[in-house]
Amino acid sequence: MKSILEQLEERRNAACAGGGVERLKKQHAKGKLTARERLELLLDENSFEEYDMFVEHRCTDFGMGDNKIPGDGVVTGQGTINGRLVYVFAKDFTVMGGSLSLAHAEKICKVQDMSLKNGAPIIGLFDSGGARIQEGVDALGGYAEVFQRNVLASGVIPQISVIMGPCAGGDVYSPAMTDFIFMVRDTSYLYVTGPDVVKTVTNEVVSHEELGGASMHAKVSGVVEGTFEDDFEALVQVRRLIDFLPSSNREKPPVRPSFDRHERIEKSLDQLIPDNPNTPYDMKELLEKVADEGDLFEIMPTFGANIITAFGRLEGKTVGFVANQPMVLAGVLDIDASKKAARFVRFCDAFDIPLVTFVDVPGFLPGTKQESGGLIKHGAKLLFAYAEATVPKVTVITRKAYGGAYDVMASKHLRGDLNYAWPTAEIAVMGAKGAVEIIFRSEANDPEKIAERTREYEDNFANPFVAARRGYIDDVIMPRNTRGRIIAALRTLQKKQLKNPWKKHDNIPL
Ligand code: HXC
Repeated sequence: MKSILEQLEERRNAACAGGGVERLKKQHAKGKLTARERLELLLDENSFEEYDMFVEHRCTDFGMGDNKIPGDGVVTGQGTINGRLVYVFAKDFTVMGGSLSLAHAEKICKVQDMSLKNGAPIIGLFDSGGARIQEGVDALGGYAEVFQRNVLASGVIPQISVIMGPCAGGDVYSPAMTDFIFMVRDTSYLYVTGPDVVKTVTNEVVSHEELGGASMHAKVSGVVEGTFEDDFEALVQVRRLIDFLPSSNREKPPVRPSFDRHERIEKSLDQLIPDNPNTPYDMKELLEKVADEGDLFEIMPTFGANIITAFGRLEGKTVGFVANQPMVLAGVLDIDASKKAARFVRFCDAFDIPLVTFVDVPGFLPGTKQESGGLIKHGAKLLFAYAEATVPKVTVITRKAYGGAYDVMASKHLRGDLNYAWPTAEIAVMGAKGAVEIIFRSEANDPEKIAERTREYEDNFANPFVAARRGYIDDVIMPRNTRGRIIAALRTLQKKQLKNPWKKHDNIPL
């Protein structure tokens, strides 16, 4: 009996050793943790239960029959984050570069199936050289099995991917279909084909970092939702994010005890809007002063920074904040901002997270670059997302709400539940200068007349009361009371019932 027990221990030790001491040292030398070390940091202490540690690949080609390592390059299982169940898989780069064999894919599929069945988030940690080249079509089939499950789970359970090393070829598309992708700076890269293939096909010489580094994806491509300094920071932040999210679309997000008074008055907000309507101010200050304890988890902080998307809490309950940022491009809506916010709004709607929108938007960004880039279709994404959302929607217009962007930003007309404005709000088709130039073109050579017309336009439209008189704004509120008013609104909306007409699925402008 004893020897059988010892054998089990030996087998476990062999699996835990992964690709061996030398490869493990190499992993550490690159500034990366191993798969098991990562899971230890991600999950609550002693909560990890591993599955399939004895699984081996079944490939016999290219001498692979003699090259088997139990676990086959991915560590999978379940654990808890602050006491809540999550499913995990972590690619082990020390085993054949974390490459994906059919057996490796089957392990991932198993945790995907369990997370969907049991309604718990799934977190994948990526560090892999892509398809196990020796396995050929079996590896390709394995990937597609994973992709199919990503799609079925989308909108049912939160899916999070963290890129912590190479992530190339077939490995990129599973993260791409999850809700959030994070990258570790300097040690990770994410691309469909690497620099060698790029050189062969296009003759372009490019580095790993330029082609798929964290900073490129976080600032230019918008493929990832955030980047972190190292493995440790990434994993701690994923734990923080999980605390904001429901386990599935069958549950409400967790409620965290809050010591922040709901009616907290923030007198400083009365001075937030500068006298000059063209002077920017930091919208983040408003978010921080409204959210419980100023605690926010920003999504895509460096991409499309003219709009802010962030999770926060009000009375301990998660809300999704969407806010134009006057500090960047005057808070205009462009292609990047529209795509970014649309995806965030859809995530919140899918997971029953109320939307709180702060509006200070001068319109859509004009220009050939935007139009030829498809601003119409991309801007429509945000419009579509807000219009189809049935979660509670509370909107506060702080300053400008001009043109189509007024409509888009969770206006009353798109089923905004409670729409407030600060006294500084200006709700109009466009700013006074542009409007006067168009409607009084014949007086363009008379600066005095133009100044008078501008004043007249401002008096008529540069305020919230035209909209308030029509019921498009439910109330004009004092900036200092914003937190209390939003919380009061959300309380009344807790049992909101609103359903869209039955359909197989919608046809959002992709
Ligand atoms: C099998 C692989 C592998 C792979 C790496 N290894 N990638 N084994 N299949 N795809 C093995 C190496 O042989 C090596 O084994 C170990 O992992 C570490 O790899 P190194 O190259 O020594 O590491 P490093 O120098 O850090 O380079 C990492 C790398 C490189 C850039 C990821 O390994 C690489 O370019 N790999 C191939 C990437 C690729 O083209 N993958 C296929 C994509 S096609 P030893 O025994 O020496 O430790 C694809 C199509 C799927 O995925 C599409 C589905 C939709």
